[in-house]
Amino acid sequence: MAREDEYERFDREIEAMGVRIKDADSVKVRDDVFDEVTLIALYKLVHKRLISAIGGPISTGKEANVFYGERDEDEIAIKIYRIQTANFKAMTEYLAGDRRFSSVRGTRKGIIFAWTKKEYSNLARAYEVGIPVPEPLAFDRNILLMRFLGEDELPYPQLRNAEIEDYGAVYRQILDYIERLYRDARLVHADLSEYNILYHEKPYLIDMGQAVTLDHPRAPAFLIRDIKNLNRYFSRYCDILDEQEIISAITGTEYREPSRPGEGMQS
Ligand SMILES: Nc1ncnc2c1ncn2[C@@H]1O[C@H](COP(=O)(O)OP(=O)(O)OP(=O)(O)O)[C@@H](O)[C@H]1O
Ligand SMILES: [Mg+2]
Repeated sequence: MAREDEYERFDREIEAMGVRIKDADSVKVRDDVFDEVTLIALYKLVHKRLISAIGGPISTGKEANVFYGERDEDEIAIKIYRIQTANFKAMTEYLAGDRRFSSVRGTRKGIIFAWTKKEYSNLARAYEVGIPVPEPLAFDRNILLMRFLGEDELPYPQLRNAEIEDYGAVYRQILDYIERLYRDARLVHADLSEYNILYHEKPYLIDMGQAVTLDHPRAPAFLIRDIKNLNRYFSRYCDILDEQEIISAITGTEYREPSRPGEGMQS
């Protein structure tokens, strides 16, 4: 079959790079993942000795696939944004309002490469100020390498599946991360949920491609949405704080429901 030929070609090309394929059955070409561009990016990263093994898929998301990998003794996560099927139109708004990326050109590939770099930069900013996130290791084109949050090839569970003893304490810990992200890293996560937090002894924030700097016109709205999401989830398990008080404490200003152009009264 043509599909089988593709798989074999893929395995041969990857192995020719000197990369060990740990799980031959599951690292098959997803037609839309391992296209030509992605293979070149993978090749670059392997050539720089940043990847020594590729394992099975951990997750298939809306925009990206995450694979287990190794760099010598270290476990890594390999996040690959799909060129063909990622929703690059939705990415444009997050990029345009962020001064670091406002000049990005609007081709599909260009947007996705910028998005990958943006996630790398966001993780680096958060990591530098000491917020628990996966340490970013490298990026090339549409591939991001980061430290693996897990053990023995098993990722830590998402918050929604984690066994938690003291929900109140975890809630406060995440609020503290959001505040430090805002104050120290000058970022708003913008997609915070029980899916984008992993948990093992403490919470870890992940999935930061969409996080924006505070000068983004929608940063205040994204912050409120994050807090609402967090409160929605934790209200089932513990007492939660008032949304407006949280926002005021984080931003140090009076809370104001943000208005979007054309919505509500303009003053
Ligand atoms: N550094 C990591 N270590 C371990 N597991 C990870 C890591 N990064 C991601 N994962 C796993 O992969 C899943 C998806 O990752 P992530 O949320 O970053 O991508 P996504 O939701 O697919 O992205 P998008 O929504 O943009 O498509 C996570 O829930 C987690 O299980
Ligand atoms: Mg996610």
